[in-house]
This record gives sequence, structure tokens and C-alpha cells, in this order.
Amino acid sequence: IVAQPGIEKEDTPRVIAHRGANEWYNESTITAYQIAAQSGVDSLEIDLRMTKDGELIAMHDETIDRTTNGKGKVSDYTLEEIKTFQTFKSDYGKTITEEIPTLKEIIETFHDSQRYYIETRLVNGKLAMEEKLIQLLEEYQLLDKNLVTIQSFSEESLLKIKEMAPHTELALLFRKGSFSLNEASGVEFPIIGIESTDVTQKVVKELHKQGKEVHVYFTNKKTQKEEQERVLEYEVDGYFTDYIHFTKEILAI
Ligand code: G3P
Ligand code: CA
Repeated sequence: IVAQPGIEKEDTPRVIAHRGANEWYNESTITAYQIAAQSGVDSLEIDLRMTKDGELIAMHDETIDRTTNGKGKVSDYTLEEIKTFQTFKSDYGKTITEEIPTLKEIIETFHDSQRYYIETRLVNGKLAMEEKLIQLLEEYQLLDKNLVTIQSFSEESLLKIKEMAPHTELALLFRKGSFSLNEASGVEFPIIGIESTDVTQKVVKELHKQGKEVHVYFTNKKTQKEEQERVLEYEVDGYFTDYIHFTKEILAI
């Protein structure tokens, strides 16, 4: 729900499962998303990367080095090659493995039973994934059902999405330390995504006055829980959480 200017917001903040339930399982895998869905989150956060042959997969990093048993850039592999690698969770070692999912496979797992919060990126500095993404979301009628938010650090990417699918809910992200109230005030997107240490009461109040929602992400897992409690006081509208149960507990939901 997007707030109207001047109207006090009473809705419970959205609980957005950051890379699925990555606290308990290999991030950005079907199982991580299934655990998140079973935990009753508002939406599944999915970072997109594009393979050499133009397929969209769920992967945060530009390379597969950190989260899989392979090495190299996603964009240097075809989907068939990507499927030969296995994800693992570094906290648990390399014993629990699972393949890297495509966005299509995630959608085919949940269909319209979940909301999706999908992050686009430029590929080698250029628009590349937007058409494929919109085509896929339309194929599964997820846009018609208002089940998707698209987020990006790239305003260019969001504007392209807006041109192709004007009714899609869009969220502009700001990098840690780069948040600018002026810049955020100047855009028409209904959601602004801010790293927690840049979130102040003043920022939230000002963006609410403009009818914008504030969704908060976290870059430091050690301080994330205290940061979640701090920004709760400011009545933020969404949490990209790595700790689903903790977030639900502080929100009393
Ligand atoms: O999408 C919100 C948050 O996930 C942005 O940071 O680097 O985790 O994608 P990152
Ligand atoms: Ca993300």
C-alpha cells in the first residue's frame, strides 16, 4: 500500500526476506525462498544476474565465487554451465548444496502465492535485463495481480521498467553513505530503499510527507538487530531482513 501525502500511516511494515531465509540456508535458492515463504513474510527479495545467453538467475554477486563451488562472472557462463555449479552456505561449509535457480524456476515454485521484490541491475553498464524480466512477469500474470515490486540502484533501469509496465510498483535504492534527501525527493518512485545507517527520523518524516514509503536494508549483520529496533521508532515501511523471526518479533506480527 502506498501512502497518500499527508496521511498518517498505520500499516505494519513489510517483511522482505532478503535473499530468502539466508540466515538458515544457502542464500537465493529455492529452499531459502521456501523457508521464507513458510515463515510468513510479505515478499521474497531476489537479486537478478544475467547469464551469457541472456537468462535471468537469482544471484547477488557479480561472480559465483562467494556462494558456490565455482569461480568467475555470471555473465561469462551460459545457463547450462551455471547449472553445473552448486551453492553452499559458508557458515555450514560445503555439505548442504543446491543448484542456482533461475527466476523462472522461483516463479514456477510459488506462482501467485507470494509477493516478489526483484532487484535489477545494469549489465556491463547497460540496460539488459528489463525486457526479459517484464516478459516473464507478464507470462505468469504477476504484474496484473500486483504481486511484484521492482527495486534498483539504477534509476535508468526503473525508468525503463516504468515505460514498459507503468503500473509496476518501483523502489529506488540508495547506496550506503550516498543517500540524498534532495535526490529522493526529486524522483516519482513510491518507495525509497535506504541503508539503515543513513535512516533518520527526519528522512522518514520527510519522505512520508511526500507519500513515499521507506524500506530499509542492512549491510552489517552484527548490528542489524539493533538497527532494526532503532529504525522501528521512525515508523519505516519495510525491512529487507536477514533475520525474519526477529523482525516479526519486534513488529509483533
Ligand atoms: O535490495 C535491498 C538490498 O538488498 C540492497 O543491497 O547489496 O543486498 O542487494 P544488496
Ligand atoms: Ca538486493
